[in-house]
Amino acid sequence: MSDLVQIVYVSRSTFTTMPAELGIEPSVARILAQSRVNNARRGLVGALYFGDGCFFQCLEGRAADVDRLYAALLRDPRHTDLKLLSRRSIERTRFSAWTMKYVPLDAEMKTLLHELGQQAFDPYRFDADTVTRVLDMLTRGSDIEPPSAAAAPQPVAASPASATAGRGSRWGWAGVGAVAVIVAGIVAMRAFG
Ligand SMILES: Cc1cc2nc3c(=O)[nH]c(=O)nc-3n(C[C@H](O)[C@H](O)[C@H](O)COP(=O)(O)O)c2cc1C
Repeated sequence: MSDLVQIVYVSRSTFTTMPAELGIEPSVARILAQSRVNNARRGLVGALYFGDGCFFQCLEGRAADVDRLYAALLRDPRHTDLKLLSRRSIERTRFSAWTMKYVPLDAEMKTLLHELGQQAFDPYRFDADTVTRVLDMLTRGSDIEPPSAAAAPQPVAASPASATAGRGSRWGWAGVGAVAVIVAGIVAMRAFG
């Protein structure tokens, strides 16, 4: 039995938003940046969608870490009316490669909303089936940024970022070593050639 859970919640932003055509909302960009740093440290992963003033977020990781973050989210004045849509135990994380994936889904989301007969993104009205469809869209969609190096793909669990950071720096030193050997070879050839 794994200790991993996945939660999906929705909320309403308290900041005023600009038209979506102008790109990513600065307040959302700040939340994303903060989330990516924090989640990498805590071994959390997930995905975030923002549309028509509403957030739809999926968080995955160890139960205690996810629940601690959700308690902090409930106190965050940047959004309100948090509603937990699902919380379930999982064997493996779906968003393993992403400390917080952000997918601007516009065309696909518009099609879904049209199908549901909704004019705007209103995740409070989503049933379990629609939540699954949105999660699938978030899984398939491309982030506006490449996957975070701190959250390299984890087949089973999102492990603490320190574990993967260590792996990254080892490769870094191997690269420096290889360059040093090549430079030494060129110097030797010049000196003795
Ligand atoms: C919609 C939304 C999503 C957020 N997602 C995360 C998240 O994934 N991870 C995180 O650490 N903080 C997230 N935050 C921020 C938290 O509510 C909280 O401010 C933060 O975790 C506090 O930690 P810090 O003071 O150590 O940065 C989010 C906030 C909002 C409004």
